[in-house]
Amino acid sequence: MDLHLQLGEGGLAEQIYMQLSERIAADVLPAGTVLPSSRELADRLSVSRATVVAAYERLAAHGLIRARAGVGTVVTAQRSRTSTAAPASRLQPREIWSSARLAVPDLTRPDAEFDFAPGVPTRAEFPFARWRALLNDQLRTRTDVSYADPAGSAQLRTALARHLVVSRGVTVTPEQLVITTGAQQAFDVAARVLLDPGDLVAVEDPGYLPAYRGFVAHGARVVGVPVDGEGLVVDQIPAGTRLVYVTPSHQFPLGMSMSDARRTALLAWAARHDAAIVEDDYDSEFRFSGRPLTPLHAIDTEGRVLYVGSFSKTLLPALRVGFLGIPAELAEAARRAKFVADYGTAGHVQSALADFIENGDLARHIRRMRGTYERRHHLLISTLRDQFDGLLDPIESSGGTHMTALLAPEQPSDTTLAARALTEGVNVGTVSRWGIEGPGPNGFVFGYGAIATDRIPAALTALRRVI
Ligand SMILES: Cc1ncc(COP(=O)(O)O)c(C=O)c1O
Repeated sequence: MDLHLQLGEGGLAEQIYMQLSERIAADVLPAGTVLPSSRELADRLSVSRATVVAAYERLAAHGLIRARAGVGTVVTAQRSRTSTAAPASRLQPREIWSSARLAVPDLTRPDAEFDFAPGVPTRAEFPFARWRALLNDQLRTRTDVSYADPAGSAQLRTALARHLVVSRGVTVTPEQLVITTGAQQAFDVAARVLLDPGDLVAVEDPGYLPAYRGFVAHGARVVGVPVDGEGLVVDQIPAGTRLVYVTPSHQFPLGMSMSDARRTALLAWAARHDAAIVEDDYDSEFRFSGRPLTPLHAIDTEGRVLYVGSFSKTLLPALRVGFLGIPAELAEAARRAKFVADYGTAGHVQSALADFIENGDLARHIRRMRGTYERRHHLLISTLRDQFDGLLDPIESSGGTHMTALLAPEQPSDTTLAARALTEGVNVGTVSRWGIEGPGPNGFVFGYGAIATDRIPAALTALRRVI
């Protein structure tokens, strides 16, 4: 038989035993397989026969092989108790985990010549050297290696509170902030603090599925509420809703901002129904035109708004740092929830980020990126208007790192067209996949973080070939 064993340094009999038992356990050598004689294998491996005999004796002692007269050494049906293959479990996950809605989407980006992947910031302009220096500084001299306040480092929360008031008009004390593993954990902490199993949660439809998943995983009943040109249609929030999740600055995925009238209506609705609002302000730092949008949090007079932010858009998604701004009365519960979830976010990353904010690096980086994103946004819209008139209708938006355009009614589905676009070297997001109660509208989400500004015209020319 063709048996390849590879021997390295160390106990040879042990290695032969391990490699054969692993193959038997994995059924690469099924029951009935006749092994080479000890002499033959010893010759092939250039080891002494006694070494192979020792390995075979051990396999036999574990019931994995036995000598059969007239046949030779054969693999038996019996599997080793020390088998490396895990036994089939009789346990079942909770039913929610079999829902296709909770499946992990494919997070790998196709290797496309023109990349409009949503949610990807500009790597080329990230100040890696500066970030590395700040992290190094922490690791070299300053890292506190013990457990720390689960709500986050006091230095970071103080720096962040100052940053939020200046950049967003959001007034929170450091004690009202919990540093989280991305916005995603902020949703999780909010749910742990406020929701009982079975509680009703309303999210925008189409909307940000990761937030939807977070609430579903808590056992909430989550319903999609339509959005129109002014944002969430407040009149359609079902009675009994305990928590409403919204993206008022830049609706995800469509891109418009919530009108003042809707903001007032939503806060009034929440007051009437004693509900909470989770405001996801994920990319509001990048606003290019119009007056600055006041967050719901800033006009909330009843402490009903939980404010969520993230460094995934302003810095990098891989950092996994976000935050939750929470009314003072809920702050200790949120701190406990974060503690239960993971004891706290990595200390040296928090400290480096605090330095990054205090030194003005964050504000500088945002200013630069705002210019870059604004140029890309305008170029994208004007080229779409020129080359895709009557085919793709860009949705008016005034900021962010992506823009959305809807396909004309007679067009094929966005998934069909996106697959075709890939054959022309263009990777573009689809809108339909963000539907909550059913497929979302037919259209494209153009992320403009990954694509260089001067590549946008050629990218759209390539896309035009498939529409
Ligand atoms: C609507 C929305 N919220 C939040 C985030 C950021 O999430 P996280 O901080 O978990 O990376 C994103 C990123 O794409 C987003 O699109």
